[in-house]
Amino acid sequence: MEKKIALLPGDGIGLEVMNGAVEILKAIEEHYYHRFHFQYGLIGGAAIDETNSPLPEQTLNMCKEADAVLLGSVGGPKWDQNPSHLRPERGLLALRKELDLYANLRPVETVESLLDSSPLKREFVEGVDFMIVRELTGGLYFGKPSERKVYGGEETVVDTLFYKRDEMVRIIEQAFELAQGRQKKVTSVDKANVLESSRMWREVAEEVAARYQDVELQHMLVDHAAMALIHNPKQFDVIVTENMFGDILSDEASMLTGSLGMLPSASLSSTGLHLYEPVHGSAPDIAGEDKANPVAMILSAAMMLRHSFGMNEEAEAVENAVKHVLDSGKRTADLAKKGEAPLSTTALVEEVKAALADDHAIF
Ligand code: NAD
Ligand code: IPM
Ligand code: MN
Repeated sequence: MEKKIALLPGDGIGLEVMNGAVEILKAIEEHYYHRFHFQYGLIGGAAIDETNSPLPEQTLNMCKEADAVLLGSVGGPKWDQNPSHLRPERGLLALRKELDLYANLRPVETVESLLDSSPLKREFVEGVDFMIVRELTGGLYFGKPSERKVYGGEETVVDTLFYKRDEMVRIIEQAFELAQGRQKKVTSVDKANVLESSRMWREVAEEVAARYQDVELQHMLVDHAAMALIHNPKQFDVIVTENMFGDILSDEASMLTGSLGMLPSASLSSTGLHLYEPVHGSAPDIAGEDKANPVAMILSAAMMLRHSFGMNEEAEAVENAVKHVLDSGKRTADLAKKGEAPLSTTALVEEVKAALADDHAIF
């Protein structure tokens, strides 16, 4: 197959983990006789520095012409004092909105050989396998007004949590569709005891659930959900929630696997052009040191192979290669146990490449 892939490394460790994913995709090209056309674009801080815009028109157009988009991460202290329209994060939010990437799927699966890397006890995290379905183009992130102003002689500020009913319907439907292919349980997370938006969300969840009789629906308040993710994460199959709740709960959930550097994601759109990105950010504290865990980015590329290109065998080969490397005790600093020498980002990528080549040699 021939595919055009837009690559947006962004900032910080985004560049390092993107290099890793590209190495793996090149290996897949070679082993499976595909042709990937990689095109690089600027986004975030890197784009602000070059073009004075966090999402240059050229990048957006390049994405629209691609078969799929891979994104590293954006942001960093260099741009933290910028005015809001010139923040790196704005570029990512604008891209999500422009491409209508409304459904962010964040799978959370613990790996047997990494159970001791989680700060939680082994028996709590063993066998954890759920999917967070995060609404990605609405809610508090996009509602207007969002501004500061002097009101009645006082400095005031407002952010708005806004949703159209249909935006709730489509993301909750997505969760039920996914649950049908899994354990048939949806946990809808909200704050219905306080927020009107959550009361409508709950109502919509009930309406959608009535159309999926084979799937069980459970409602959970977000504060309870934050606790339950630590106390009994095995109860979850599919979690569906509003944009900001999903952002927060997924970083929390990452620690079940041992590191934020483990969680990939797919941001699916209504148009068929999807974006794949790790859950983590640009990690300024370790950027430029060849220390970052590239697994989240590599697994995001595997999600792209499966969801956008239908390359199931190739996606599985990448996932198996990653698992093989982790099972053999090789890991980056975020997962290494005390006394173990961690591998660098580039060394771990080399190991995954070698595992892919070995796996391929068997067939
Ligand atoms: P972060 O996710 O960048 O880092 C949080 C912690 O996790 C840090 O200690 C970091 O070193 C560690 N970490 C993250 N990814 C890792 C990896 N692959 N390997 C090893 N360790 C890893 O979050 P933050 O520090 O709160 O934010 C830093 C910047 O990243 C901010 O500008 C923020 O806006 C941005 N950000 C961007 C995205 C994105 O582009 N999708 C996501 C989250 C944060
Ligand atoms: C994420 C990030 C982004 C978000 C930021 C960088 C805008 O935290 O992808 O999880 O909050 O969605
Ligand atoms: Mn986040």
